[in-house]
Amino acid sequence: MNPLDTLQQKQDQALLGGGAKRIESQHKKGKLTARERISLLVDEGSFEEIGMFVAHRSKDFGMEKEIYLGDGVVTGYGKVNGRLVYIFSQDFTVFGGSLSETHAEKICKVMDLAIQNGAPVIGLNDSGGARIQEGVVSLGGYADIFHRNVKASGVIPQLSAIMGPCAGGAVYSPAITDFISMVEHTAYMFVTGPNVVKTVTHEHVTSEELGGAATHASKSGVTHFTSSNEVECINHLKQLLSYIPQNCEDDAPVYPYEAADELRAKLNTIIPENPNQPYDMKEVIEEVADADSFLEVHKNYAENIVVGFARIGGRSIGIVANQPSSMAGVLDINSSKKAARFVRFCDAFNIPLLVLVDVPGFLPGTDQEWNGIITNGAKLLYALSEATVPKITVITRKAYGGAYDVMNSKHIGADLNYAWPTAEIAVMGAKGAAEIIFKNEIAAAADPAAKWKEKEMEYTEKFANPYGAAARGFIDEVIVPDRTRAKLINAFKMLENKVVLAPKRKHGNIPL
Ligand code: HXC
Repeated sequence: MNPLDTLQQKQDQALLGGGAKRIESQHKKGKLTARERISLLVDEGSFEEIGMFVAHRSKDFGMEKEIYLGDGVVTGYGKVNGRLVYIFSQDFTVFGGSLSETHAEKICKVMDLAIQNGAPVIGLNDSGGARIQEGVVSLGGYADIFHRNVKASGVIPQLSAIMGPCAGGAVYSPAITDFISMVEHTAYMFVTGPNVVKTVTHEHVTSEELGGAATHASKSGVTHFTSSNEVECINHLKQLLSYIPQNCEDDAPVYPYEAADELRAKLNTIIPENPNQPYDMKEVIEEVADADSFLEVHKNYAENIVVGFARIGGRSIGIVANQPSSMAGVLDINSSKKAARFVRFCDAFNIPLLVLVDVPGFLPGTDQEWNGIITNGAKLLYALSEATVPKITVITRKAYGGAYDVMNSKHIGADLNYAWPTAEIAVMGAKGAAEIIFKNEIAAAADPAAKWKEKEMEYTEKFANPYGAAARGFIDEVIVPDRTRAKLINAFKMLENKVVLAPKRKHGNIPL
């Protein structure tokens, strides 16, 4: 055969993956093929495939007669909105996308290229796990990938989409990556599946209950995003990329921004008169960020803290905000872990941080103490303290107790700390404080309730405001809320060349 025809024939064969019947079955499940997913992700015509003719080396169980070119994963590089990305996309039509020795080698090759050339790596996962016919070379292949995930961590962004099964030890590659996005109803992740669970713990659960997108978005926090279908999932990845730089030495893309009247009158009335009444911190975010720029991360997990990306004056920022409308915005184990991980991503990739504070303290109780609120709360303290990117705080209302320190206080290295006139910066709420420090006076009073109220007012007058902190310089400026956006635009611009030289050490020891 003519050499060109031979090449064409091989390419056609590779493009068919596991064959037309299996492609049809993939579509019937509401899933796209590995190549269809890539073409949705990249700019048209930009994908360059690497390793199209790779074939497995297995000779056991008749495998030598079943060869599919590409061996169950499509790898290469392309552009998303003009920016280079490296991609691997598992092909479920070839042995269920299972990971063989050569399949792993292909993934490692693009990961190595991504690390060396400083561009994000995106994994589109859809796999039955280790190639059962291969044994230890498949397990070794996984570990080779895990090792690269760790080497790439903090060097290049790593994004994972889960678009089918992801089970067993295979879950640990996505787990190490920076962000996971799962497709509802077709994706699931678990270390051991429902059958093993039934045998070992006698629990009866479906795959969906055990490790579906909804479970991991709300219960475990394993996934950062969920989507109702694959197209939405891929669009999420593209949107996410628009906020983040190519690598740890790069800056995030800056979008055009024209200075305008930045007063936001709504912010002057957002805090309810009753200090115990909730309000939605996302409304504050909407007012201070550029229009429609907020991309929430971990939306349904630990809703008492809100984290996500936005732009201010066209620049990417990461936002961490207590959410008074969920559990009064209290800090607990899950919210501390969620925020700490997000802060570390932003710090690793030069994305400045905005911290919006309205926090009554840490959540009391045996559940929290026995499950380690001490260690877990320390994660957020550590992460914010360690971060060297520009860090700005706005206290909208409460900043009580240890949570005042943790939530990006001046003392742990924030660059600029603003407070609204409604800010209450104190060891604790006035009512509780009065009860403790004026206990005897209240008890001895003719009308204890009236005395308590009087003492509560006295404490409020003294501490439940921002002026004590401002007098010491812990607050740089008490601002009218409607000026917040304008202040932040100027402040982040002023801080854009911030440099912090860290002392020489191997790495810190964050309380994990
Ligand atoms: C080889 C596999 C495979 C695997 C699926 N296939 N998983 N081949 N190794 N791990 C093949 C099937 O034989 C079938 O081939 C095709 O892929 C599609 O599989 P189906 O079962 O028909 O599809 P479906 O009903 O959608 O079920 C998908 C599935 C199921 C839930 C993933 O296939 C399954 O349970 N597979 C085994 C999962 C598993 O136990 N993996 C090993 C886990 S241990 P044909 O020829 O019919 O198309 C592990 C350790 C990793 O992963 C450790 C890392 C440290």
